[in-house]
Amino acid sequence: MWAFSLSAHEVEAVQALTHEIALEHKSVEEVEFIRRASVYAHELPRRIRQFLSDFKLHEPACGVCLISGYPIDNARLGKTPAHWKWKLDGAVSLKEQIMFVLYGSLLGDAFAWATQQDGYLMHDVFPIEADKYDQLGSGSEQLLWWHNEDAFHPYRADYLGLMCLRNPDRVATLIGAPDISRVSREHLDILFEPRYLLKPDESHLEKNESDLRKQEREHGGNEALDSAYEKIKQLNTAPQPVPMLFGSREAPYLRLDPYFTTPLDDEAGAALNALAHNIDDNLQEVVLEPGDCLFIDNYRIVHGRNPFKARYDGTDRWLKRINLTRDLRKSHGSRSGCEMRVMV
Ligand SMILES: [Fe+2]
Repeated sequence: MWAFSLSAHEVEAVQALTHEIALEHKSVEEVEFIRRASVYAHELPRRIRQFLSDFKLHEPACGVCLISGYPIDNARLGKTPAHWKWKLDGAVSLKEQIMFVLYGSLLGDAFAWATQQDGYLMHDVFPIEADKYDQLGSGSEQLLWWHNEDAFHPYRADYLGLMCLRNPDRVATLIGAPDISRVSREHLDILFEPRYLLKPDESHLEKNESDLRKQEREHGGNEALDSAYEKIKQLNTAPQPVPMLFGSREAPYLRLDPYFTTPLDDEAGAALNALAHNIDDNLQEVVLEPGDCLFIDNYRIVHGRNPFKARYDGTDRWLKRINLTRDLRKSHGSRSGCEMRVMV
């Protein structure tokens, strides 16, 4: 993995910058903040900018980079919430969230899904008791099967960012990629062909919308959101066949989420199965520490999470998550304006 540790001087510079920005913006969800984020990012210390720029341009096979060394005041954070819908820490962790978006802006533009976590750009990842057996970031008791984020969607992120606020039980994030030299030519051919149906993961389903927004919709109506859920329904009931691999045959890009994939024939199933075993053999555990920002190349590696026993007492593992795209233009028709970042 590419790793970078902030020096004391760099921590001070980041804190001074985020302090100044926090005087102007009360939330990272503000359209004006997001519009200016990539310009603010020019003011980060040069070593950070160079590191992220190199990660973007070189596309290293490891597919992940980590920036560590930012101090988090655990007491100031307060409790890990019981649900993401209230956004209780909006002001408390604002500076950390700003830092995270600025880092991400050096890799791409942050965006949100209307159908995921109520359309917020900054996601929360912590265990929610009602979701404990689900294939969701908020689950805990089940292995979260490895996948590429939002693999079902053509506008999925190029990079997924994870920032750790706390992780007292040292719950590991799983990352992995296939060893392509061990994939047979015959399987490679099949995996490059559109012989798989890939359905949306559960985080996009209407049942996982918060009760707060559900009530809002029932009272006020929201045509754009209704149509976003309709699109997800269509992708769920009539997905188009897609390949699992694309790009270069020597170092293919991945489009994998086996838990939600149906191969169209036995040959396609066998090829995917062999690829999955290959990835299983290469899975690594990454334990994030408070203040760590991990960026995952969503085209090069898969990620997941081991099962763990959640505490539900306000001290559970708590990550922030953002989606980043290298090309906002490809989703132009799915957003309500050039500067808008919510995909519907
Ligand atoms: Fe994920």
